[in-house]
Amino acid sequence: MRAKLEHDFERFKRALPPDFAAHVRAAYRIDLTGRYAGEPLPHPIGKGSGQLSLNAGQLEEDAAAGLAFVVLKTVIAEDDAGVRAMAAWAIHETRMRVERRAAADGRPGWTVTWKGRGWDRTLDEYVALVRAGRDLTRAGGPLVVPSVKYHLPRLDEPFRDAEYRHTTTRLAQAWGTPPLIVEKDFSPTLAGDALADDRAQILRWLREVPGRIRAAAPLSVRVAVKLMNARFDDGFQLDMMRAAAGSGADALVCFNRLFDAERGVAYGGWDLSERNLRVLETSPTPGASPGFPGLTGTGNICSGRMILDYARRGCESLELHTFFQLPLSQYPATHGSRTARALHALVFAPDDGLIAGMLELEARGEIDRRDGELHFLDVRAHAHRPG
Ligand SMILES: Cc1cc2nc3c(=O)[nH]c(=O)nc-3n(C[C@H](O)[C@H](O)[C@H](O)COP(=O)(O)O)c2cc1C
Repeated sequence: MRAKLEHDFERFKRALPPDFAAHVRAAYRIDLTGRYAGEPLPHPIGKGSGQLSLNAGQLEEDAAAGLAFVVLKTVIAEDDAGVRAMAAWAIHETRMRVERRAAADGRPGWTVTWKGRGWDRTLDEYVALVRAGRDLTRAGGPLVVPSVKYHLPRLDEPFRDAEYRHTTTRLAQAWGTPPLIVEKDFSPTLAGDALADDRAQILRWLREVPGRIRAAAPLSVRVAVKLMNARFDDGFQLDMMRAAAGSGADALVCFNRLFDAERGVAYGGWDLSERNLRVLETSPTPGASPGFPGLTGTGNICSGRMILDYARRGCESLELHTFFQLPLSQYPATHGSRTARALHALVFAPDDGLIAGMLELEARGEIDRRDGELHFLDVRAHAHRPG
């Protein structure tokens, strides 16, 4: 197996096989099937919302690379007159810097420094991108998912349902056939905003928002809630998970980037994955608690080993951003888009790739073959097996 993996790693540096998940299944008897908001995926690796899912060209490149899903940049909700309560998040900013960022314990990692926020073009332009994404999904490409920042009121204010209704209806019309899957973004810049100073206010949002999106949609909708890292303790992260789960969210994305209040920017790296994994370690998981939403991990995922660290804490899929933006010298592959080079390293790296990690879990007796195959989704189940 090891020799085969090293051979594949070398030969796929130039190009991945067209359906690499099928190759992994045939060659290694490993079923990489993942899941996002109830949708089965050929493997668990997707792209998080952000600057890498702003146009059809990026989506086509990701489809060619074989990504399992792509969450589009977050659009700011508006009503039919174009009024946006969260307009402060629709600012224009193009300059991004990919930087080294050491964690609190000194470990060197990567972060992307960027002062922008949500989609800064019109809702019509966003709807056109959703249509392009729908066409790619229907043609067998990645599952494309729109992301929205809807109105979040103060405790004494009502929700602006007209913004929920208009935006969700436009997305549903663009998507066409049910179900529509929508990711609701609670962003790090929101965590850094005075709006998020009040715990009761945040919990009210999480209890009410999934239901409001559902009520606003003209067709059946699944809601993935992307939770922020609030500026409170780990216990509050769990409170947020429970509040969103109790309100019928279909999936929780855990957790968006940390906020550096001093510099006024969001950041990632090892501090982010450490916090996320620590909180997920103590959280209920779908397998253990029936009815609990599926979990998708995000934050500093830069190896197959890290994918498995999230999976062992309950995650069925992963959303990456920073790892798709590194300098080309950081990828072992020699050809292809950054997405393709990242997938090559994440899946086939002989020391810390997903295949190597799955085989290692098998050797340690942490997962077993069923009908001769190892299954990625079994990693999650193991987290709660007695012993
Ligand atoms: C430049 C940049 C822009 C982002 N924009 C959004 C966004 O609009 N909506 C959202 O939900 N997440 C956004 N994210 C968060 C990413 O989707 C991802 O969850 C986060 O960066 C953690 O993953 P990573 O460590 O792999 O980057 C953004 C991240 C970056 C780096």
